[in-house]
Amino acid sequence: MAVTIQQLRQWKQQGHPITVLTAWDYALATILDQAGVDVLLVGDSLAMVALGYTTTLSLTLDEMLYHAQAVRRGVKHALLVCDLPFLSYQESPQQALRNAGKLLQAAEVAAVKLEGGYPDMVITVRYLVERGIPVMGHVGLTPQSLHQLSGYHRQGTSKPEADRILQEAKALEEAGAFAIVLEHIPATLAATITHALSIPTIGIGAGSHCDGQVLVTADVLGLSDWQPPFAKPYIDLRQSIQEAVQQFCEDVRTQKFPK
Ligand code: KIV
Repeated sequence: MAVTIQQLRQWKQQGHPITVLTAWDYALATILDQAGVDVLLVGDSLAMVALGYTTTLSLTLDEMLYHAQAVRRGVKHALLVCDLPFLSYQESPQQALRNAGKLLQAAEVAAVKLEGGYPDMVITVRYLVERGIPVMGHVGLTPQSLHQLSGYHRQGTSKPEADRILQEAKALEEAGAFAIVLEHIPATLAATITHALSIPTIGIGAGSHCDGQVLVTADVLGLSDWQPPFAKPYIDLRQSIQEAVQQFCEDVRTQKFPK
């Protein structure tokens, strides 16, 4: 049975942790989906891990659509959520609706995720939700605001900042978001937010007291050439792939393959 938004809310109430990973193509999506991940996010981190851009800012809506369509073909079980890329929603709620609509129509994703909180993004979230588009929020470290934040630093470390992030999360819930990503904030702040909200919080670098956890799959698989401090590689695929490829090259050069 496919995972639904309603199920995520029930899982929060039941204390059943929610698993989220990112996907960027068909092959990866089938593997992650068959492994039983609850939510697959076509995250704009694909700009860096799949396309080689230096930040997420360069990713276009057309590129996102192309990847989301490939992921969609591989997903049967997980709830499929797609990031709205930088500048595809910040202009106005109407722009956000138009572009979120494209992702729902052309890639059949179930929901979109957008970065930022009070006040502008809250208005946009409400506008989308009232028109039938489920929205996942994202507060704390929001990589699309990299330059404004002066880097990928932990957020919410001072009292005023922590209060602001808590207010943003509450306002996003009130506007109708069905879940919120909490990125790179202190575990105590993430616990406070998780306790204050009735919708699930999905943490990344936000400690263990969130309702679910998300990681960028390239970091989990050891495919990235750089990893954030909170990532956990479960396998070194970069090394394994290199060894397999070196073996193939040697077998061809020594005429051991094909036989
Ligand atoms: O783009 C992404 O991969 C994300 C996750 C880190 C939550 O937004």
